[in-house]
Amino acid sequence: MFITFEGLDFCGKSTQVKLLKEKLVQLEKKVILIREPGGTQISEKVRDILLDKKNCEMHIEAELLLFSASRAQLVREKIIPLLKEGYFVISDRFHDSSIAYQGYGRGINLNSVKTIQEFAIGSAIPNITFFLDLPLDEIAKRRQKYGADNLDRIELSENDFYNRVRDGYIEISKNEKRFITIDGTKSIEEIHNQIINIVIQMVQNNE
Ligand code: TYD
Repeated sequence: MFITFEGLDFCGKSTQVKLLKEKLVQLEKKVILIREPGGTQISEKVRDILLDKKNCEMHIEAELLLFSASRAQLVREKIIPLLKEGYFVISDRFHDSSIAYQGYGRGINLNSVKTIQEFAIGSAIPNITFFLDLPLDEIAKRRQKYGADNLDRIELSENDFYNRVRDGYIEISKNEKRFITIDGTKSIEEIHNQIINIVIQMVQNNE
């Protein structure tokens, strides 16, 4: 089963990804956790280029293609082979991030972004995608706590960029049945329980 997590930076995704992994391991499932961009040797090199603050001259089209190239490698080198071996593959971000960030956020033509994503991911379509939604003011508070010095190239973007990204996710959720919107203002434990109940239900339906 292929499970992805989406949301704005600082929405709490990474915590939930780890908790889900631990729970599935406890249930004696084979689980692999991956992060995007990255996850293979080649994809990690592309990640460094993408997030390096020095690369401020990067054009948005190049940015989209680099994210997609990193993903295309990850899909073929890891995701598809692991799914075939019966693993639960949990990805912290996947192609919906490119649709939300590069499409809705940066304003690249949505049809082009979607076509490039279809090409990059091939048959690796997530079974379920958890979208952790948080209002922008909450995200801004968390960003401030983190400190500007620690932000990467993309996290340094302005608030109206993040507004467009969030609206993008909300649009995607209207059209994609696999999208489950989770209220990110709830406690870590409440969110985890909600996620685990949905995953267990899906596992039972598949058996
Ligand atoms: P990362 O540090 O992994 O952020 P997070 O922990 O919030 O996922 O950096 C990934 C950054 O890249 C994040 O700001 C979102 C952005 N991004 C895109 O713009 N497009 C994409 O396709 C992906 C995968 C990430």
